[in-house]
Amino acid sequence: MYTEEIILNLPKIEQHVHIVGSTRPETLLEILQEGDVQTDLQTLQDIYKFYQYTDFDHFLSVYRKVSDSITEEKFYQTITYQMLQRNAECNVKHVEAIWSPKDHLRNGLDYDKMLDYINRGIRQAKQKHDITCTIRIDLVRNYGPETANQTLDLIQRNHQNVKAIDIGGSEKPNPPEPYKQVYRRAKELGLHLCAHAGEAAGSEYIWEAINALDVERIGHGTSAVDDPRLLKVIAERGIGIEACPVSNLRTGVIKSLREHPIRSFINHGIKVSVNSDDPPMFNTDMNNEYVSLHRELGFTPQELFNISLNSIQTSYLSSNEKQNLTQSFHKEYEILTQK
Ligand code: ADE
Ligand code: ZN
Repeated sequence: MYTEEIILNLPKIEQHVHIVGSTRPETLLEILQEGDVQTDLQTLQDIYKFYQYTDFDHFLSVYRKVSDSITEEKFYQTITYQMLQRNAECNVKHVEAIWSPKDHLRNGLDYDKMLDYINRGIRQAKQKHDITCTIRIDLVRNYGPETANQTLDLIQRNHQNVKAIDIGGSEKPNPPEPYKQVYRRAKELGLHLCAHAGEAAGSEYIWEAINALDVERIGHGTSAVDDPRLLKVIAERGIGIEACPVSNLRTGVIKSLREHPIRSFINHGIKVSVNSDDPPMFNTDMNNEYVSLHRELGFTPQELFNISLNSIQTSYLSSNEKQNLTQSFHKEYEILTQK
């Protein structure tokens, strides 16, 4: 088998993908029409143009418009199912998907109904493609800690398939520290702790996410590369970094993929996963992420397979599930590399 063919066929895990950010251009057109939303977006060409960004803040403003186009809870089933279908085509076996309920609660949508439709999409994908998926709830830092606490009330009441919390959204004006109590409460509820940090802000936000929020995983973490002491702490504590290389390129966090710090993270002994973040919005998917690391940074199939194995280790799966998945990944890899 050719190297790139092996890479496309590697078994994978996705730890960081936003459900809303997985809305396909075709699907966005359909839901805008069905939801009778007033919009300038009329053709696929309009959407391809719409999905291009001048910087991170511009990306977030486009993301918000996509989010606001979800005017009915049922659209979540289609979007979730299609996200998992594409992941299954990339030989992803398990996904930890991010959902931001507050972005829709403020538009009058219902938490329980949305969660129910997401789980229907997950069950449909499991049936058709044998891919599993759990949910991480993004409390969205823009709304402040009080609102985050209210979202946690909803999670406490109904957490079907919800395994973790996160703070995404506009990073720079919203540092992690004020979320300390919310994270402590989430931990008491048995939820895993993660935070977007060091994507659009400096390494001091990653320190805060570790020291104040006690996170087990960091979304992006790109700016950690500037701080050798921080890299050492992340490695020593076994904190996972969810790298999203193409996302960082498209939002202007890095100027080229060759600049991405993923190699430095791995060389420091950090457990890194590779993820697509908002795949159609960044014109990427899990296969493109893995192949791009090969083409631009010289990652070999064995190095990429190690990333897949580490992604199992830092996932929210049970130790039994981790063991079984690791075994089956080794079997697949053996077959792939013997051909
Ligand atoms: N919401 C969707 N994608 C995001 C990202 N890359 N960073 C922060 N919030 C987000
Ligand atoms: Zn993200």
